[in-house]
Amino acid sequence: MRILITAGPTREYFDAVRYLSNPSTGKMGFALARVARRLGHRPRLVTGPGDLPRPLKIDIVEITTAREMQQAVRRYFPESDCLIMAAAVSDYRPRKVSRGKVKKTRNQLRCDLVRNPDILKEISRHKVNQTLVGFALETRDFSRNARKKLRAKKLDYIVMNTPRAFGRDRVDAQIFNGRGCLKKFKNISKDKLSEAIIKLVEKNSR
Ligand code: CTP
Repeated sequence: MRILITAGPTREYFDAVRYLSNPSTGKMGFALARVARRLGHRPRLVTGPGDLPRPLKIDIVEITTAREMQQAVRRYFPESDCLIMAAAVSDYRPRKVSRGKVKKTRNQLRCDLVRNPDILKEISRHKVNQTLVGFALETRDFSRNARKKLRAKKLDYIVMNTPRAFGRDRVDAQIFNGRGCLKKFKNISKDKLSEAIIKLVEKNSR
């Protein structure tokens, strides 16, 4: 299968040197791409900025902002059999981007933010027979919020985790489909979690 995977954070600049982002490192998306390849698939990885070594033999598309990630997903989705959105996309971006570096001449600064597109929600409208997998990063009402996202974004599966997953090699996670919780993992490695996700995708595409 041609599997499109997103990874890492996005950055939303408000001047030439400063941005809004989050602590995502890309480990989950990179693990998914490596495992997909090991299992005989053709992954394409759309990734935000980060320090992880770029794996050889995997098609990589480097992006910075949420809107660039959206462009890349729109471009490659039609030729993909599956999309797995592991990226931690910034939901907002500064309304205005100052040219150059903002100088510290004032005591207070205001920065207006505007909503970024919901990449998964938009792409799910163009789904033909692709399998769609999302992640849900939750800090409360874990299962309820995750299942709400699964329905709102019309996903086949959603992987629920918490901010403790940022940058770690092992995580607690649950995978849901429309009927409920399919799998629950404690302290599982991102490689093993990737295997479980890819196996579900394989089953769903049969
Ligand atoms: N996602 C996306 N586009 C966005 C934000 C998120 O495609 N602008 C994707 C993420 O990659 C993830 C899923 O949607 O697969 C859920 O992301 P999450 O950050 O958990 O939730 P949000 O939809 O952003 O909702 P909220 O921040 O209100 O929890």
